[in-house]
Amino acid sequence: MATTRRRTLSLWIGWGLLILLALPFVHWSLTSGVGPLTGADLADNRFYTPQLTLANLAIFSHMALGAGLMLFIPLQVWPGLRQRWPGYHRWMGRVLCLAGVIVGLGGLTYIAMRGTIGGVWMNAGFALYGALVVICAGQALRHARYKAFAIHRQWALRLLVLSFGSWLYRVHYGLWYLATGGVASTPDFDGAFDLVQNFAFYLPYLLALELELWMRRAQSV
Ligand code: HEM
Repeated sequence: MATTRRRTLSLWIGWGLLILLALPFVHWSLTSGVGPLTGADLADNRFYTPQLTLANLAIFSHMALGAGLMLFIPLQVWPGLRQRWPGYHRWMGRVLCLAGVIVGLGGLTYIAMRGTIGGVWMNAGFALYGALVVICAGQALRHARYKAFAIHRQWALRLLVLSFGSWLYRVHYGLWYLATGGVASTPDFDGAFDLVQNFAFYLPYLLALELELWMRRAQSV
């Protein structure tokens, strides 16, 4: 009993801290997306291309919805909330899975139509990231509808980890520049650090989660 209470408390503290740290990015992402979608001046916006309406819509709605995804998805696994308000969990779950699909497809559309600032390897890393987000959101929703809740939970956890990838990308850069001043990182994003980062902001975290899920499965047989 005491162990469970300690575990719940550390979960609360861990999640609370993570969300607090991520809030500035969530705010920035929200305003960067909502501003252009509601008619802000786009003359100096590097994501805006006058002739490409679909790419513009895709990238700005992905920023706005991505912020919402990051803000609300932790509540889905917040200790006790699902049991206490199952209706909220179900409805918010549907909204978040849909948001995940739009965020992923929005990023993929932008990559296909305009390409990223870092060229082919950044396109590849972010495209894989987008595809994984779409798959995890779709699978989480599908398994919830079939009431396969154990599997639903695994896909939802993958989506949760991926949702924080975009923020972790910036955190990695911030820490690296603090520690090294930006060794192996270039303005064109083709330094060794930049190339690794194209995949390192989500794959290691996803692998760590897979390991944790695998250990839990092994313990339960
Ligand atoms: C919760 C998730 C996400 C949030 C909050 C988010 C937020 C953002 C923000 C704020 C930017 C602008 C960055 C800047 O100003 O330099 C951006 C750019 C971008 N995002 Fe996302 N994003 C998310 C997920 C994704 C996913 C899943 C993809 C996958 C396809 C993706 C692909 C991109 C691309 C390609 C760019 C443009 C990169 C460039 O050329 O600079 N994002 N995102």
